[in-house]
Amino acid sequence: MKIDSKKITLETQQAFQTSKEQIAKFNLLDSYVSSYEYKSLHKKFLTATTIKIDIELFLDEINLYSDQFQPWGTKHKDIPRYGLALVNQNGMFNENDPINGSLHEWNKLYPSSPIIETDCQKLTDAMSMISLRPLRIFDNHWCRSNILKWHTGAHFKPHIDTVLPSPWLRLWATTDSDNLDIRYDQGDGTLIKFENIEKGRVYIIDTSIVHDAISYSDNVYQLFLSTLPSSINILKEHLCLE
Ligand SMILES: [Fe+2]
Repeated sequence: MKIDSKKITLETQQAFQTSKEQIAKFNLLDSYVSSYEYKSLHKKFLTATTIKIDIELFLDEINLYSDQFQPWGTKHKDIPRYGLALVNQNGMFNENDPINGSLHEWNKLYPSSPIIETDCQKLTDAMSMISLRPLRIFDNHWCRSNILKWHTGAHFKPHIDTVLPSPWLRLWATTDSDNLDIRYDQGDGTLIKFENIEKGRVYIIDTSIVHDAISYSDNVYQLFLSTLPSSINILKEHLCLE
């Protein structure tokens, strides 16, 4: 089944401009990744980095934070999706933290107090996990980041997370690529599965392309990370050689 990627992209562009407050926030940002730089960094939907997480250690450590996972978002709460804040507005585990959900949805509900990724730059205690130490090369360059926990059937519908020029970059990893499909629009509205994902490997993800994901098992974790444009040189230094 084909999707209408143009419509999804247009709707996201509109979602970024839900209110004058939100437009003002984007206008105040002092740094964007240019379309040219973005395209040269994202040659594929997922670009492997040399950064790798020790999955066994992560799965052990994450149990300490099991009480801090919150149902994802305000809609579709029947879908078994949970989020834990890694980088949010105040570095605390907040009740009903808006970052444990779609900020597009939040900004539609609360147009006069919008939140965007770059508003979130404080690390929570979960970032002190030993298994996440390889990520700390991005300290001082973080913005909104989460750990997602999905059970069987959890999914995201086709969407995008940024438009170009982009105010942030996105990184992604999973603990269980055998039981998680992530698909992207190959250019004609057909979603195809990205193959040969290595569990624990951190990838640069091109979320300006329409993509979706689904879990086929319980306790599938994803790192759902954003960094500021200032991280671009660190990323370039950590690309896997082809
Ligand atoms: Fe996404």
